[in-house]
Amino acid sequence: MPERYFTAQPSAEEIEQRIAGFGGWFEVDLDALSANLKAIRERTGAEVMPVVKNNAYGHGLRPICSALVSDGVKWLMVAKLSEALAITSWRLPCHVLNMDMLYTDDQFRQVVASDVTQVVYTRDLVQRLNKAAVELGRQVGVFVKVDTGLHRVGVAHSDAISLMKEIAAMPAIEIRGTFTTQMQDDEQDQLIFDRFQRVLDQMANEGIDPGFRSLASSHGIFHYPQSWLDMVRPAMALYGIYPWTPDRDCGLALRQVLTFKARIEELKPVKKGETVTYFGKYTATRDMEVGTLHVGFYDGLPREMANKGTVLIGGQSCPSIGSVSLNHYLFDATGVEAEIGNVVEVIAREGLNDLVTTAETADWMVYSLLNHLSPFVPRVYYRGEVPVALHEIGVYRGSRGSKKPYLHQQMKTLVHAGDFLFRLRTRWCGSCREPYQSSES
Ligand SMILES: Cc1ncc(COP(=O)(O)O)c(C=O)c1O
Repeated sequence: MPERYFTAQPSAEEIEQRIAGFGGWFEVDLDALSANLKAIRERTGAEVMPVVKNNAYGHGLRPICSALVSDGVKWLMVAKLSEALAITSWRLPCHVLNMDMLYTDDQFRQVVASDVTQVVYTRDLVQRLNKAAVELGRQVGVFVKVDTGLHRVGVAHSDAISLMKEIAAMPAIEIRGTFTTQMQDDEQDQLIFDRFQRVLDQMANEGIDPGFRSLASSHGIFHYPQSWLDMVRPAMALYGIYPWTPDRDCGLALRQVLTFKARIEELKPVKKGETVTYFGKYTATRDMEVGTLHVGFYDGLPREMANKGTVLIGGQSCPSIGSVSLNHYLFDATGVEAEIGNVVEVIAREGLNDLVTTAETADWMVYSLLNHLSPFVPRVYYRGEVPVALHEIGVYRGSRGSKKPYLHQQMKTLVHAGDFLFRLRTRWCGSCREPYQSSES
């Protein structure tokens, strides 16, 4: 059950004790995630298939999947087979759609044996998938990707119906969805919609069930009601982000889900004229106090934030100075009441250092910022402002003398043993353990 992930977590007090020792960590507001999901459902009336690729855009794959499935999500979409297999190994009551290309016979068998739904768009892909399914005596679901103009992957819209007919005749394959991707260009998107609709009409004429008809990612959800069809595929909107300025006026109220916090590791006076950090990148224009955080581009902060960013301490903005190093980020702490260990908001929920503004300050896309957040930084998950889960890579042994963390670890061992037996049963070789499955996942 999805809740299993949350019920197997340390208590709120234990999580808070752990946080007290973190130099930097991401906070994920699961209430905001739920509210965004609800808002998207109400706006579109369509099935929502969250896109949780790349560690759920940095938010943490397992907790985000568990939370979404608890909120009734029935489909999750990923870009890598390792993510799809990880999700199926958690046995959440939902379907997983894999966009990754398959190359080896072993991968085709893994998809079938793990009941992953596969994106297909070439004859070779469906034929090999059908062969693997027949050999294993199972059915496999597919979403057919149609290329309506992006010229990336997908069967060309003009050739789609002949591939659909072949797939429909394959005994072990079931079409569960037909989808395409918008260009996010107003003129082109009408053309894309028309081409996609033509393919759907052809399928209807041939009596082929397209399964879920899907076109819209966040952009379509924001601006293009025609594109909502049966299923929408948000990532950004779900994580509470309007990637482009016009998105904010679309009438959909979202809350940013992720924030980035850090503790002050050092505070020191620097005299006017002295330089700060590598290559003397910054020269003090007056006597000042320099604060250092133990975070940097290791964690995913753009180096381009140097001398341009802002951090918040107790609601007060402080400019970043010098450079963004691998593990250090400096700010002007002059006149600020602060001491070592105080918490600083590196990326806040709103204002000058929210996610979008931080990305813009660095001249990055907010997509790049989120998708470069390090999976090694601890993530803390909140409901009602109470920490309900902690995702931390590495073995958490708990404090000496406390039995609770130890018991918690034992429970996890049992859960992993269960997963292992399940994999054996489904004949998955288990060679694809990915970074999300640390001992803390
Ligand atoms: C096929 C597909 N659909 C939907 C999305 C989600 O896009 P967005 O983050 O803009 O909502 C992606 C992300 O790249 C995608 O590849």
